[in-house]
Amino acid sequence: MLKVRKAVFPVAGLGTRFLPATKTVPKEMLPIVDRPLIQYAVDEAIEAGCDTLVFVTNRYKHAVADYFDKAYELEQKLEKAGKQDLLAMVREVLPAHVRAVFVTQAEALGLGHAVLCAEPVVGNEPFAVLLPDDLIWTRGRGALGQMVDLAASRNASVIAVQEVPRAQTGSYGIVDTAGDEGNPARIHGMVEKPAPEDAPGTRAVVGRYVLSPRVFELLRDTAPGRGGEIQLTDALARLATSSNVLAYAFEGMRFDCGTRIGLVEATIRYALDHPELADRARDFMRAALAE
Ligand code: UTP
Repeated sequence: MLKVRKAVFPVAGLGTRFLPATKTVPKEMLPIVDRPLIQYAVDEAIEAGCDTLVFVTNRYKHAVADYFDKAYELEQKLEKAGKQDLLAMVREVLPAHVRAVFVTQAEALGLGHAVLCAEPVVGNEPFAVLLPDDLIWTRGRGALGQMVDLAASRNASVIAVQEVPRAQTGSYGIVDTAGDEGNPARIHGMVEKPAPEDAPGTRAVVGRYVLSPRVFELLRDTAPGRGGEIQLTDALARLATSSNVLAYAFEGMRFDCGTRIGLVEATIRYALDHPELADRARDFMRAALAE
């Protein structure tokens, strides 16, 4: 597989689970400690070797574009005040060798449709998709980096998965590996949010993908599925019948920051790992739990 240089971030969803905050603040801009969710996904993509970031947004998400834009006035102020560390932090939002491209999804017609909106920028090369509300905490190489390495060595598309309790299959896309319990395992089929009794297994799709551009063709003739949305899962299920698509259980801990408890858990995890905050966070938690 060719080198993966382009990463797509579908951020055009409505984020209804975080209302009322998401009336004005896009879900992707909610912070974990001091950085918005989107920054964690962007850093992971850059670490994996991507240099072109494609954000699929909607007309309400100016905050995402503004965040990655250069903040001249702020930078001048910090420079004048000699606040070099803060200045570096602001500039590191997007390193100089990386470019950001914004495309609009006019209507929220589903994740599959959002990915298809990125086609004019991605073109005919393999690409990554990252859903920023799946935050993956790792100590070593990031989850996408692990997947890009695997895609290159196996010349395959790769989809991140994690084991879930059977009772929860209805909240996820579930892969069918035809009984192969290995890691990675070849995918033979995929089902979006199956009832536990219908699920072909218990490996759930997590929001990281390395995909062949053939998926665009398949998305173009994917009819709206579950919920009237064009489902990425449906196109991927078809991709898996005609090419090598691997399910990969990455090293790392995934937080579902599309849910309130996931955001809280991630905040705790990152605070306990933060050099300046860890001690106080631990003390506070102990005291709060003892109440
Ligand atoms: P979700 O299913 O989490 O939907 O989308 P949502 O609208 O963001 O959030 P809730 O459920 O209303 O709280 C999964 C990912 O797909 C993107 C979302 O931005 C999110 O990253 N998405 C979804 C789009 O970009 N466009 C769509 O039409 C749908």
